[in-house]
Amino acid sequence: MTKATDWSPASWRAKPARQIPTYPDQGALQDVERTLVRMPPLVFAGEARNLKRQLARVAAGEAFLLQGGDCAESFAEFHPDNIRDTFRVLLQMAVVLTFGAALPVVKVGRLAGQFVKPRSNDTETIDGVSLPSYRGDMVNGIEFNDAARTPDPARMVQGYNQSASTLNLIRAFAQGGYADLQKVHQWNLGFVADSAFGERYKDLADRLDETLAFMAACGITSESTPQIRETDFFTSHEALLLNYEQAMTRVDSTSGDWYDTSAHMLWIGDRTRQPGGAHVEFMRGIANPLAVKAGPTTEPDELLRLIDALNPDNVAGRLSVIARMGADKVETLLPPLVRAINKEGRSVVWVCDPMHANTEKASNGYKTRPVARILAEVQGFFAVHRGEGSHAGGVHFEMTGQDVTECTGGAQAITEANLSARYHTHCDPRLNAKQSLELAFLLAEILKAGRDRQPATRPTTQPGRAAGGG
Ligand code: PEP
Ligand code: CO
Repeated sequence: MTKATDWSPASWRAKPARQIPTYPDQGALQDVERTLVRMPPLVFAGEARNLKRQLARVAAGEAFLLQGGDCAESFAEFHPDNIRDTFRVLLQMAVVLTFGAALPVVKVGRLAGQFVKPRSNDTETIDGVSLPSYRGDMVNGIEFNDAARTPDPARMVQGYNQSASTLNLIRAFAQGGYADLQKVHQWNLGFVADSAFGERYKDLADRLDETLAFMAACGITSESTPQIRETDFFTSHEALLLNYEQAMTRVDSTSGDWYDTSAHMLWIGDRTRQPGGAHVEFMRGIANPLAVKAGPTTEPDELLRLIDALNPDNVAGRLSVIARMGADKVETLLPPLVRAINKEGRSVVWVCDPMHANTEKASNGYKTRPVARILAEVQGFFAVHRGEGSHAGGVHFEMTGQDVTECTGGAQAITEANLSARYHTHCDPRLNAKQSLELAFLLAEILKAGRDRQPATRPTTQPGRAAGGG
């Protein structure tokens, strides 16, 4: 990439920075930053380049991006079973898309680093007491008391350590045999198997077994073919706490480029995408694949200016735009953005986040999202791209492998009264495992219908490891 001569990992500090906490003890903050600078990178630049190549195929309509995971990871819920359950639901979703729609799927988790949250209000008031808002476990604690809510830089080190062990387990699963396509039946969790979409998944897995048996008879087995046995799985999070991101940024000795080694892919949230702001400044200088959220207030000109800053060389796969407009607005607000980008000939990966603009308050006070609106935004997003002749590249969503009750509706028909049963999220309501599978089946149907309409868009390249392992 063209090197920006006026950029350094610290150049964001001279720009207006939103959403960054004020640490009361600056000395302690600097100590932590110095500690993090010496820590091993969590990812390697070559992996980020590999993801960028795979995203270039998504931009060309030859693959699909599945980006999902927690809204906010937490220290309290750190447990190997939670990591495994989220990972296996993502594998199930990917296999539904790969096998159901015959499209390579690029798998990116919102995990191993998704610990910092932007907030609409700096403070939260309960019974007349105002305290700083909770900003994610890497910043402060969720408990409503002064000590917990005071930003503590030591939490960055704990977040780094949790990210490292989460990623270690994910790498073991992805490459050590757990993601082997011969295990598709085993990914169907007990409580998922016992549901309408769990049944559908089982049928699909049966058909996949038959296909694998046929391939084995032809000499293609998981022993001979790593694509069947293992998969690529990438990490991502919102690059919000720039003190942490700067400390994790290193020069790659192969290319001489700067990489933020805290994750393969980083995104800028809807609240911090100001073209002259600190987050855009930081992100423009790192060579990782990037994304930027585009909410309802995004103007076409503003988006083009962001693209000028973040992808000046128009490299395919470098930049994804994650639209989060809301089910009722996507078909009016997205087309002007798509048209502006098409007109200027910019290459972006268009991604749909059907979660963040479909949040509402249930009558009993719970923050929730109706599954019907989530699915409707996905459908609206695809309809817009069909109309504009552009590629709907992927989806970005919040989910967990646990059987939580946070989003209403779906085949499971969770009601507002059910929400209190297992409402565990630290921030936004997530799809549970069954609802995630429901989304995957809907996506597979839409993708399949799109391909049936346009046979010429069939992938021309061999499905690589993006397709393997589910
Ligand atoms: C998020 O992805 O958790 C988030 C806060 O999104 P947005 O920036 O789109 O509001
Ligand atoms: Co969220």
